[in-house]
Amino acid sequence: MRVHVADHPLITHKLTVLRDRQTSSPVFRQLTEELVTLLAYEATRNVRVDPIEIQTPVTTTQGVKISEPRPIVVPILRAGLGMLEGMVKLLPTAEVGFLGMVRDEETFQPTTYAERLPDDLSDRQCFVLDPMLATGGSLGAAITFLFNRGAQDVTAICLLGAPEGVAAIEKQVEGHDVTLVLGALDERLNEKGYIVPGLGDAGDRLYGTA
Ligand code: URA
Repeated sequence: MRVHVADHPLITHKLTVLRDRQTSSPVFRQLTEELVTLLAYEATRNVRVDPIEIQTPVTTTQGVKISEPRPIVVPILRAGLGMLEGMVKLLPTAEVGFLGMVRDEETFQPTTYAERLPDDLSDRQCFVLDPMLATGGSLGAAITFLFNRGAQDVTAICLLGAPEGVAAIEKQVEGHDVTLVLGALDERLNEKGYIVPGLGDAGDRLYGTA
């Protein structure tokens, strides 16, 4: 697995405002969108393209266009939805699928409660959106779901990650082509499974606690 941790002052600046408990939901949503667009730039570094010939007003030249079948963006509900706009801003021709994961409070195992994805993902580049990589439970289950549909090329984009989560995903995806793009790698998880220093509950901060 390749892990890319963003190293850019603009990303760190926006993350600092995002972490601040005083930041309101509207500002949090706006900043999440902006951050994802910046992270998407890195995450799409290896997006597949085909050569094409075009006419400029001056001459004929060679360029590229994004290959078919189109890449697919998969936000994990609910908090991953807050990352969708920022991603499709950069990759407007991508298809969008959805995965809803919930943790069973007795077994602690994540289960899928909703999905809208093609049956066959074997020739698709998949971009999974999940803001907080904490234990790695839901992201790991989502990536496994994509593997089970044949996905061979998966990139996950997270605003923040904990070392425990990165290690868990690494173990789970062994032997597969997976890239993890993080806005920052934080210190650790606390006893409640929150990322430290983190930013709190991303879903609540995006959408309120309803
Ligand atoms: N999910 C969140 O929203 N925040 C955390 O810190 C961990 C998991």
